[in-house]
Amino acid sequence: VDVDPSAYEHGATGAEPRMYTEMLEQPASVERTLRGRLDERFGTAHLGGLGMDARELRAVQRVKILGCGSAYYAGQMGAQLIEELARVPADAEAASEFRYRDAVIDPDTLYVAVSQSGETVDTLLAVEEIRRKGGRVVGLVNVVGSAIARACDGGIYLHAGPETAVASTKAVTTMFVGFALLALQLGRVRDLSVADGKRLVAGLLRLPAQIEETLAGEERLAGIAKTLAQAESMFFVGRVRGYPVAREGAQKLKEISYRHAEAYQMSELKHGPLALISPAVPTVAVVPDDELADRNIGALHEIAARGGPLVVVTHDGVDLGELTAERIDVPRNEKELDPLLLTIPLQLVAYHAALTLGHDVDRPRNLAKSVTVE
Ligand code: AGP
Repeated sequence: VDVDPSAYEHGATGAEPRMYTEMLEQPASVERTLRGRLDERFGTAHLGGLGMDARELRAVQRVKILGCGSAYYAGQMGAQLIEELARVPADAEAASEFRYRDAVIDPDTLYVAVSQSGETVDTLLAVEEIRRKGGRVVGLVNVVGSAIARACDGGIYLHAGPETAVASTKAVTTMFVGFALLALQLGRVRDLSVADGKRLVAGLLRLPAQIEETLAGEERLAGIAKTLAQAESMFFVGRVRGYPVAREGAQKLKEISYRHAEAYQMSELKHGPLALISPAVPTVAVVPDDELADRNIGALHEIAARGGPLVVVTHDGVDLGELTAERIDVPRNEKELDPLLLTIPLQLVAYHAALTLGHDVDRPRNLAKSVTVE
């Protein structure tokens, strides 16, 4: 480490790192993403920018989400939301891979490009190729008037506000909200009931206050981060809703703390990586209180039996039984919306791990805010 750690100590210079202020802006940025788009009476969302009427939305047979890095992980969360709420098959793929394979472009698929900057070259080239072959692409983009926003057939702006820290935080959570709105609108022109629509609208409206509550746990998270930062290598694990959260958590930690963090599907651990678990290799596990909680806790016993230290991001009331673990409880919302609140503590953990190690969180080595050249 060739920097003076004290220079980057949190708050020491009076000027907080931009990543920090951007994390704290999340209640407001999520509120902006929602503003004017929710219909409480009919339990739906209105995304006029998509330029698609109910008939066109109903005709969508599949959804394919494309983005890079954290936008791709937000896209994975989004694909799950779309499948759950709209019952339309959906998946996410790294745009950087998609553009190099000779993908079949399907006219009945709705392609969704997701990007904070709207300038990521891999995502932009994927959009252009899809449109050249007659596919319809809508964008979930933060920067107004950016190249990706202009290249798409339609889309919605995230309204996260300017994000300048390399490590994306508020853009990721607003992407999640953007996907929830899209899933709601797609769902409500299909089989999603008005009652479920209203339940989700109410859940979305609760998010800003709950993000605030989660951010208030910072001091404890800083302590956990200090311990984790001592490990050279660690795992982030989750299943289904928890897995993209684990990927995003590992990504944040890697890019600003330079610690090796590997995200894995909880159930894949026993197919190989369990061999690496030891007292020197901690695991951060994402265990929401959903239908998979018991199964997830079972998998954590496998880690504990090998002496692996555990940090568990979960909900109050989830019984971890005999497990010795640092637990981080996030507020409860509708289970479909869990990934957003589970993501927030992992941002703070990454941030404090980087500070502990004396890194400049806003300018991580080898990385640019957006990758605009080949
Ligand atoms: C996030 O923390 C990263 N810096 C990076 O993965 C980023 O999300 C990715 O490069 C995509 O950027 P975009 O959202 O501007 O397209």
